[in-house]
Amino acid sequence: MSEDIAQLDQCPEWEALARHRDRMREISLRRLFAEDSGRADALSVEGAGLFLDYSKNLLSAETLRLLVALAEARGLRARIEAMFGGDKINSTEGRAVLHTALRAPRDAAIEVDGENVVPAVHAVLDRMGAFADRVRGGLWRGFRGDRIRHVVSIGIGGSDLGPAMAYRALRAHADPELDVRFVSNVDGADFAAACSGLDPATTLFIVCSKTFTTLETLTNARTARQWLVDGLGDEAAVAKHFVAVSTNRAEVESFGIDPANMFEFWEWVGGRYSLPSAIGLSLMVAIGPERFGEMLAGFRAMDQHFRDTPFERNLPVLLALIGIWYANYHGAESTAVLPYHQDLARFAAYLQQLDMESNGKRVQLDGEPVQWQTGPIVWGEPGTNGQHAFFQLLHQGTKLVPCDFIGAIEPSHDLPLHHDLLMANLFAQSEALAFGKTSDEVRSSGIEEELVQHRTFPGNRPSNTILVDALTPHALGALIALYEHKVFTQGVIWGINSFDQWGVELGKVLAGKIAAELQSESDPDLDHDSSTNALIARYRRH
Ligand code: F6P
Repeated sequence: MSEDIAQLDQCPEWEALARHRDRMREISLRRLFAEDSGRADALSVEGAGLFLDYSKNLLSAETLRLLVALAEARGLRARIEAMFGGDKINSTEGRAVLHTALRAPRDAAIEVDGENVVPAVHAVLDRMGAFADRVRGGLWRGFRGDRIRHVVSIGIGGSDLGPAMAYRALRAHADPELDVRFVSNVDGADFAAACSGLDPATTLFIVCSKTFTTLETLTNARTARQWLVDGLGDEAAVAKHFVAVSTNRAEVESFGIDPANMFEFWEWVGGRYSLPSAIGLSLMVAIGPERFGEMLAGFRAMDQHFRDTPFERNLPVLLALIGIWYANYHGAESTAVLPYHQDLARFAAYLQQLDMESNGKRVQLDGEPVQWQTGPIVWGEPGTNGQHAFFQLLHQGTKLVPCDFIGAIEPSHDLPLHHDLLMANLFAQSEALAFGKTSDEVRSSGIEEELVQHRTFPGNRPSNTILVDALTPHALGALIALYEHKVFTQGVIWGINSFDQWGVELGKVLAGKIAAELQSESDPDLDHDSSTNALIARYRRH
């Protein structure tokens, strides 16, 4: 953030919003809609093939004007250009943030340290494509000459959630002859389940790790190698059954994977932004290079929309500003992501890492503590399942939980009745949340007086509705980029670094120490707190 930009809570635009919030205390969605029959049209936008209706939010045209002014005052425009231009905006790690370069067209030029990175991006995409085609076409064979039937992707966090989520989302487009599985947890149950019933002769492992030093991934990869060598009886089999995706050639080699079978990416790709890099290899093998390219085109379309569209009509910016309105001016602590699409079953989990690892920060770029709330808790489940679980709290609980409803106009199956019912529920839930049911309406339907309050819905509970025509690779790419840029925009406004993740380090270091203590032959000298000491001792006794 440049020196001449004031601290967030000292910006006049920040204070103007606080005053505006005080004037808006009595705002009612019922009234806003009653007073303006064009509200839905006015507060809907399209971009990169996505449609966003944000009319069911507790805001007026004035709110939006003030929020956009805040974004301008925080230098969002310049920060967007800095990110796309390859500036080292990840200041605590001294790195550029260039996931957008992963989907840049072949003829683009984006420089990091004076070097155009786009040719390298496309060289890796080409290698991935050739490899995926060979596996899919049966030309890449296992050690015993068998065709590959199972792909097991090993990774964790950003090296797992993206491909796992996207494989699930795009399963309608995947090769039915190839079974793709994911292993992430160091809990051996995960590995055991993923490899259960698999024949090593027809199984390919893709080990994904930016650093190639992550405990979980390396433990699972070693177990996989042992499983394979035990099954095929020859160390040499590893060459035909293991490929790696990493930035760390030396560690890949020392693990025993031929660097010829390594797909590279770069330090300027954050883990949680890495699906469109070689980390997406398992997905590309499943859906094919062409479909993968369509997904990249969807990402790219949203990148362009984000970069080129005025903030008032800019989908990621609008989502970000609306989120800030609730987090910083209405005390909302969380936000729910509710895809009405079973294929997006892992989308909320994916967004949890994207948002919470990015914006779960307590200090500003200069290291000073923030005096305002930053990233929300992100959670959610697909509808309609969620309706029968946690929606009660959304409708009648005491907490404000802004919701994002996500749906597709066309289903990815041949059961149209199901789809009509699914979408009817999506539209009904946002309507019920926004407009509720007053006590008078409850009474007038003949409900006995003592139940009236129990059956009253306060309404005024905000939501966005995001619709895609169909959950195609293009739509998925655009949807992911929408949230990437939303998170970025919020980070800029809050004045934090959205691209580091020091907060996960302490637990990792402590786990290493405790692992040694759990495994030590002799009784270790435990110097933790009394609770941790007792837990370790109890585990060791058994
Ligand atoms: O959990 C921290 C983290 O560093 C994530 O940011 C990252 O996505 C994940 O671990 C996996 O890291 P790697 O790809 O280096 O194995």
